[in-house]
Amino acid sequence: MRDSFGSKIGLVLATAGSAVGLGNVWRFPFMAGQNGGAAFIIIYIFFIVILGVPGMVSEFIVGRHAGTNAARAYSRLSTGRQWKHVGVMGIVTSTIILGFYAVVAGWCLNYLFVSIGGDIGGDASSVRQYFVQFSSSPVSPVLWGLTFIVLTHLVIVRGIRSGIEKFSKLMMPTMFVLLIVLVVASCMLPGSMKGVTFLLNPNFSKVDGHVFLAALGQAFFSLSLGTACLCTYSSYFSRSTNLVRSAVQIAFIDTLVAILAGLMIFPAAFSVGINPDSGPSLIFITLPCVFHEAFAGMPVLGYVTSILFYALLSLAALTSTISMHEIGTAFFHEELNKSRKTAACYVSALAAVICIVSSFSVGYMPGLQLFGMSMMDCFDKLTAQLLLPLGGFLTCIYIGWFASFPRVYEEFTNDSTVNRSLFRVYLFLVRYVCPTFILAIFLDQFGLL
Ligand code: PHE
Repeated sequence: MRDSFGSKIGLVLATAGSAVGLGNVWRFPFMAGQNGGAAFIIIYIFFIVILGVPGMVSEFIVGRHAGTNAARAYSRLSTGRQWKHVGVMGIVTSTIILGFYAVVAGWCLNYLFVSIGGDIGGDASSVRQYFVQFSSSPVSPVLWGLTFIVLTHLVIVRGIRSGIEKFSKLMMPTMFVLLIVLVVASCMLPGSMKGVTFLLNPNFSKVDGHVFLAALGQAFFSLSLGTACLCTYSSYFSRSTNLVRSAVQIAFIDTLVAILAGLMIFPAAFSVGINPDSGPSLIFITLPCVFHEAFAGMPVLGYVTSILFYALLSLAALTSTISMHEIGTAFFHEELNKSRKTAACYVSALAAVICIVSSFSVGYMPGLQLFGMSMMDCFDKLTAQLLLPLGGFLTCIYIGWFASFPRVYEEFTNDSTVNRSLFRVYLFLVRYVCPTFILAIFLDQFGLL
């Protein structure tokens, strides 16, 4: 018998675990900061509702209907065999993301251990020096990245119910508690309200077409859309799972965590007068300085905060890497008839190669470049800007125009028992609205808009 999730709360937490990741805790705050604070958040929520939720429901429909891995799932709702390639593309995309995401996740794990050993915080130049030294050493960052892949692997081989579900049920609430503690600590610092105002005060003067597109891209990445991840997880959902309700709950958790992450980072940064900048430097250089300065008079609190913060990041990253890993594992297991353990080893090995190449390209071997970018940037751009939107776009086109209409209706409404009145709205969104918006990001990225 194929493994499945054992409870509704389990499947929601596991899928929310996939969605909540470095995209929420690290990327969202600086994107909101750069793009008009609350103005960005309003636009972001708009996209989550009209695009993210229908996109999630579409992947859920494909996966739950088929009850199999992504590649096979995409050929089950229509007669056209070519749709299989959308699933295969999702598997490739997620394995690539797993490889380079593990590099950053490994950095988080290293910072967690360094935080436990003592204070990494100090003045900006010493923290920067530490980061450059660490990330460009030949062994250490690679080992941390590989450790992260091994941790992911260990959860995956235990299966869906006793691996992914059990782990998520334990880790998601833990992560939430850590987040709340950190938000409270950050908002209690003197002068922190400036950060809250900055994040919650809509500044529409910064909003232009690019802000819309940035919000759209962020919504996609954050909900793990377009990578076949949601489709794979939903293949383990039961027939009675309400797909629309689950998608709404997951999108809600994901957005809440993103906003709370902003409320954790900005107040602390503003309280010490540091302007949070973007990129890796935000969590690996700026924040250690913030912890150091904000808690200068209370070193124990600074020490604990720093540990909690990197534990939070590592956990958030782990529940996401697990979902990326599962996509390929299910594929090798079911398509090549390999045991789950062997299938997981294939995925881990592929991800390890990508992880090593990515890690070297941003540190020890800066010459490892393609098209004038580090391999890490190449993988990032290839997936986030090309494969992810393409996967989402094709999924909408598939569901809206090519899939068997009665099957889609059956899945959406659980055989005509729920959500019947929403079906028309949903169909309109996946047929017209979603593809148009996704096409817009696509063209914009190539300067065609
Ligand atoms: N959604 C995750 C995040 O916010 C990233 C992710 C992308 C996870 C694609 C799975 C698949 O960090």
